[in-house]
Amino acid sequence: MSTILVTGACGFIGWKVCELLLARGDAVIAVDDLNAAYDVRLKEWRLERLRGRPGFAFIRADISDRWALPALTRAVETTGPVSAVINLAARAGVRASVNDPWAYVSTNVTGTLNLLDLCWTREIRKFVLASTSSLYGGDNPRPFREDAATDRPLSPYAASKKAAEVMAHTYHALYGMDVTVLRFFTVFGPAGRPDMSLFRFVQWISEGREVTVFGDGTQQRDFTYVDDVARGVLAALAAAPGYEIINLGSDRPIVLNDALHLIEGLLGQRASIRYRDRHPADVDATWADISEARRLLGWQPETEFVAGVGALVDWYRRNRDWARDIAT
Ligand SMILES: NC(=O)c1ccc[n+]([C@@H]2O[C@H](COP(=O)([O-])OP(=O)(O)OC[C@H]3O[C@@H](n4cnc5c(N)ncnc54)[C@H](O)[C@@H]3O)[C@@H](O)[C@H]2O)c1
Repeated sequence: MSTILVTGACGFIGWKVCELLLARGDAVIAVDDLNAAYDVRLKEWRLERLRGRPGFAFIRADISDRWALPALTRAVETTGPVSAVINLAARAGVRASVNDPWAYVSTNVTGTLNLLDLCWTREIRKFVLASTSSLYGGDNPRPFREDAATDRPLSPYAASKKAAEVMAHTYHALYGMDVTVLRFFTVFGPAGRPDMSLFRFVQWISEGREVTVFGDGTQQRDFTYVDDVARGVLAALAAAPGYEIINLGSDRPIVLNDALHLIEGLLGQRASIRYRDRHPADVDATWADISEARRLLGWQPETEFVAGVGALVDWYRRNRDWARDIAT
C-alpha cells in the first residue's frame, strides 16, 4: 500500500483518480480548495462519494498559497510517507483563462512550483502533472506527437500549463525527481465540468434550452473517457524513472456536430442550435498520437465514445433535480 497526495481531488478527473487509488488499496491525501470556478455542488457531490472510505483523508487547501504548505506537510507526516504527488488541481478551460489569466498563473504555475518544492523538501520522488492538448495550438500536424512544437500557446491556460511542464523539468534536472507529464485530450463522462461542451449539450437539450456552439460545429475533439484517463494517471505512477511527457487521448477525433446529434438521439429530443463566432483561443481540431502511452505506460483507451456519452446522459438523468440548475 502506498500513500498518494492527490490535488484537485474533488475535480472531475481527481475524483476518479482517487476512486481507483482507494479501490486498489492505496491511501489518499486529497487536497482541494473547493473554489467557485464552477458550481461547488458538483465538487461536493464528488467528495461525498469519497469521504469515509478507508484510507481517504481530505484537506481543504489552496496549492497556490505557499504558506498552506506547512499544513499539507503536517498531513503528509501523520499519514505515513507519501510516495507520489499527482497534481490535478488547476484552473482549467481555455476561454475563461482569457478573462482572468492571473488566476491561471497563480494555481497552475505557482501552485505547481509549491508542490514540486514540497516533493523536494519531503523527499517525495515521484510527481505526476496534468497538462493539456491545448498546448499543441493550431499549427502542428495531426495526430499530435509529444515532440511537436508547444512554445506558441493560444491561451493563458495553455501558456500556464507549458510553464508548469518546464518548471517540473527544472526540478527533475536539479533534484533528480521522477516526473510524468500527462497531456489530456478533452475528457468527458459523468459529473464532468459544466464549462465543457458535452455537459452543456446534455443539460441544454434536456431542459429545452437553446444550444450555443462556438464556430460552425465542424471542429473536432479527441474526446477521452474519464475512467480511461484515470487509469492512465495510475499507470504513470509506475512509469520508468526520468522525465516524460505522454499524451492521453482516444485517438478517435469526433466532429462536435456529430457529438451533438448523438446526444439528441440518446435523449430523444431535438436541439435548437445557435452557432456563434469561434473563439480565437479555441483550436480547430485535436487528435492524440498515443504510441508513447502504449509504449511507456502499456495504456490504451477502452471506452467507446457512444458508451461514454451514454454514461454521461444516464448520470444527468439520475441527478437532474439539481444538475438542471448548474450554471453552464
Ligand atoms: N477535463 C479535461 O478535458 C482536461 C483536459 C486537459 C487537461 N486537464 C487538466 O486535468 C486536471 C483536472 O481537470 P478537471 O477537468 O478535473 O478540472 P476540475 O476543475 O474539475 O478539477 C480541478 C480541481 O482542482 C481544484 N483546484 C483548483 N485550483 C486549486 C487550488 N489553487 N488549490 C487547490 N485546489 C484547486 C478545483 O476546486 C477542482 O476541484 C487539470 O489540471 C486540467 O488542467 C483537463
